[in-house]
Amino acid sequence: MRIGVLTSGGDCPGLNAVIRSVVHRAVVDHGDEVIGFRDGWKGLLECDYLKLDLDAVSGILARGGTILGSSRVQPSQLRDGVERARGHVEELGLDAIIPIGGEGTLKAAKLMYDAGLPIVGVPKTIDNDIAVTDVTFGFDTAVGVATEALDRLKTTAESHQRVLVVEVMGRHTGWIALHSGMAAGAHAIVVPERPFDIEELAARVGERFEAGKRFAIVVAAEGAKPRAGSMDFDEGKKDVYGHERFAGIARQLSIELEERLGKEARPVILGHVQRGGTPTAYDRVLATRFGWHAVEAAHRGEFGKMTALRGTDIVMVSLADAVETLKTVPADRYEEAECVL
Ligand code: F6P
Repeated sequence: MRIGVLTSGGDCPGLNAVIRSVVHRAVVDHGDEVIGFRDGWKGLLECDYLKLDLDAVSGILARGGTILGSSRVQPSQLRDGVERARGHVEELGLDAIIPIGGEGTLKAAKLMYDAGLPIVGVPKTIDNDIAVTDVTFGFDTAVGVATEALDRLKTTAESHQRVLVVEVMGRHTGWIALHSGMAAGAHAIVVPERPFDIEELAARVGERFEAGKRFAIVVAAEGAKPRAGSMDFDEGKKDVYGHERFAGIARQLSIELEERLGKEARPVILGHVQRGGTPTAYDRVLATRFGWHAVEAAHRGEFGKMTALRGTDIVMVSLADAVETLKTVPADRYEEAECVL
């Protein structure tokens, strides 16, 4: 069999572990040939690829990023490129393509599958917002990075009696904010799923100072928003891919809280540090299992599906189901966190 692999969209710790696992399972166990397209779908559309053998994937398990490179491609570019992609798949004699990516990549994967290409997807995102899998690799690493940052920020916040508003990634969902906030013992968490009331938030933080505490940490998912009319808010803009370019929840919140509380407040934006560096052991294992199962699915001819974690099992779910909806933070999960803030 000849398999093509690509990594697309925002990178994520664990991508290299999937690539390595695909190569090991396919080349060593099945005697397949594997090629990797450079820079995501762009590589498939431009027929830009490299051969992936054991040497090519040696030593990459613990490395962050992706040895293949990644890029974002606009949906219109992909739609117009389907015929070109099909031509390259035929020319290269590919029997399967394994795109590894998040929401946008999986939508593109479905588009390619619907056009007749032999696709087996692998989900990835630090945001953990793919609904049909219990967890995506990258999430555990990102939560670990954010938690460590929050732990560190507490000491400086306390020294200066400040409120620190820490912005973590999470465009549509607040999973990183929820988990890192719980793990680090933050004092308030705001997520996109629950628009917040600025007065309630200020009251909550204020009570802490009134009780004699010297600092407060507020964790804000980047996509969190105030309740309509609760405060002036700059939502930002959309970029060329239709993705939000947020104006900065941490900056806006810290100004509002400082005014209301009379305490110094500072924004801290963790940004891409959450996506960089070595994956945790959990993410390496999950990524490795996804790679193994993607190759098996390709050999069974199970196309139009992607790997998913359900409990402790890896299962295959249809790409159509995978892209239907996002996994948002449910009310009861938020309440569990709220109780310990
Ligand atoms: O999709 C993962 C994600 O980390 C989002 O939480 C964040 O909004 C986005 O990527 C940032 O992507 P970019 O690398 O394009 O700035």
